[in-house]
Amino acid sequence: MPHASMHIEPFFDPVTGTVSYVLADTDAGQAAVIDPVLDFEPKSGTLTSASSDRIIEYVRRQGWQVQWILETHAHADHLSGAQHIRHHLGGKVAIGAHIRAVQQLFRSVFHFERSFLPDGSQFDHLFEDGETFHVGGLELTALHVPGHTPADMAYRVGDDVFVGDTLFMPDVGTARADFPGGDAATLYRSIQRLLALPAHTRLHMCHDYPPENRAPAWVSTVAEQRSGNIHVHEGVTEAAFVQMRTARDATLAMPTLILPSVQVNVRAGKLPPAQDDGRTYIQLPINAFLKGAGAPQGMA
Ligand SMILES: [Fe+2]
Repeated sequence: MPHASMHIEPFFDPVTGTVSYVLADTDAGQAAVIDPVLDFEPKSGTLTSASSDRIIEYVRRQGWQVQWILETHAHADHLSGAQHIRHHLGGKVAIGAHIRAVQQLFRSVFHFERSFLPDGSQFDHLFEDGETFHVGGLELTALHVPGHTPADMAYRVGDDVFVGDTLFMPDVGTARADFPGGDAATLYRSIQRLLALPAHTRLHMCHDYPPENRAPAWVSTVAEQRSGNIHVHEGVTEAAFVQMRTARDATLAMPTLILPSVQVNVRAGKLPPAQDDGRTYIQLPINAFLKGAGAPQGMA
């Protein structure tokens, strides 16, 4: 049964296709913010906060206190608004404990400063699989659902689950599994864990990339996903999914903001340390992902 005083407010960012949420116990006046987005314009390096400010204004209007800022994973398509939200509304910034593996990976890709430790300490809290926590009187359970990345979490509250980048709407399918540390078979198993929940369970997506013939949407039930998800409807085997996912991922370009996003998001949404001119720089490692020949010579 849905909790009588539970409210879920979605915020859709059409630029990145991301859905952020405010989850509240309205009686208690306590809330969590899930996957807040900052607005980064890569052509000019301009970083602004309108998307997160909408959430801040909404929470302030309701008069709620923010207890948690929950990340489902280190996003590769947008810079996290977690620190901006925390600065204005408070709350603990939390992510899954396996973020340490993601930090370890990207620390070397970006040659982070020595003082950056891949121990998750940049976050206020790291969730283990099955850990329970509260937003007001609502009890949530953190579920480790890796595959898209090694550290993906879903957050369940009663019959509602924030699924992060596992499932998309049934007509869009599933998240890609080809980022560093991603794995299609692991993603399949995580999705099966979600689809084993009761049929009426409402799944809240982290993204929507709607086809031209429909408006953005972000809620579907387990039953709708089981019967209609184009990638993982009932009857699709793990082997068939892995083959489909791997073939499809091979055709996808890197997301525009993956390099700016990841180097900020594994720092819990903090920017890299400022340089000695006082300015902060986002790094672009040259050819960290080049496969095979093609690098120019004589430039070092
Ligand atoms: Fe993602």
